[in-house]
Amino acid sequence: MDLQQKIVVVTGASAGLGADFSETLVERGAKVYGLARRQDRLDRLAERIGSGFTGLTCDVADEHAVSRAFETILEREGRIDVLVNNAGLGRMGAADELSIEDWDIQMNVNLRGVFLCTKAALPAMKAQNANGGFGGHIVNISSVAGLMGNPNISAYNVTKFGLKGYSDALFKEVRNDGIKVTCLFPGSIQTEFFDEAGMSISPNPMTPAQMSSTLVHVLETPDNYLISEIVMRPLRPRG
Ligand SMILES: NC(=O)c1ccc[n+]([C@@H]2O[C@H](COP(=O)([O-])OP(=O)(O)OC[C@H]3O[C@@H](n4cnc5c(N)ncnc54)[C@H](OP(=O)(O)O)[C@@H]3O)[C@@H](O)[C@H]2O)c1
Repeated sequence: MDLQQKIVVVTGASAGLGADFSETLVERGAKVYGLARRQDRLDRLAERIGSGFTGLTCDVADEHAVSRAFETILEREGRIDVLVNNAGLGRMGAADELSIEDWDIQMNVNLRGVFLCTKAALPAMKAQNANGGFGGHIVNISSVAGLMGNPNISAYNVTKFGLKGYSDALFKEVRNDGIKVTCLFPGSIQTEFFDEAGMSISPNPMTPAQMSSTLVHVLETPDNYLISEIVMRPLRPRG
């Protein structure tokens, strides 16, 4: 896909990967709608990136907020070419100590949020395909925690394994509608994720810019060519 003038939705755009994805995609000529709860952060990002970026306040776990955000985008643009399901969080804790609230918020943001945003974007993408154009591309941000379990992150593991299964099913379901689905599985990246998660980051993490360059590569593949999964890791995690 040529990203020039394409309409892209990035969830979790107020920080970390989502902010870098948004800035990089605007630089590639796309028009980006960034969804997150912290509007002040989105406003600061819009000041930096410029008119190619629009921030919309949206809790992706809230079905009404997601409906409103996608209605706004579709009213303004009439199409959605790319959805990056990036919003997510981890809360660590032993299985017998993790609070129910911490379990629920990870399920709600990391899985329910992906379901709600995908459900909101798919009808437009299917219509674009039916009208003879390229359907669209959905990119889901899982984690290496979606490929292997580890102590004290069982709930996060559930969500990221779940996202792998959701992505695999969805890719098979919509490939004949001309819609690509890609699932990315990164290791540690230098973001605010670890503050929220309550764990220390590895000494030599990857950077959001490195993730963005892979995202651009995946999105810019020829229309008949799909990269369905990629695992990304730092070369020397201990530095
Ligand atoms: N950092 C890593 O090492 C790493 C590795 C593998 C995978 N990942 C995944 O990468 C994704 C991005 O994480 P990050 O590292 O960039 O973390 P981050 O810096 O903490 O950013 C998380 C983003 O998600 C948004 N978010 C959280 N809850 C939300 C909600 N209910 N509704 C809408 N947006 C919400 C936050 O925005 P608001 O707070 O403003 O809503 C923020 O923009 C996550 O899915 C994470 O699991 C991260």
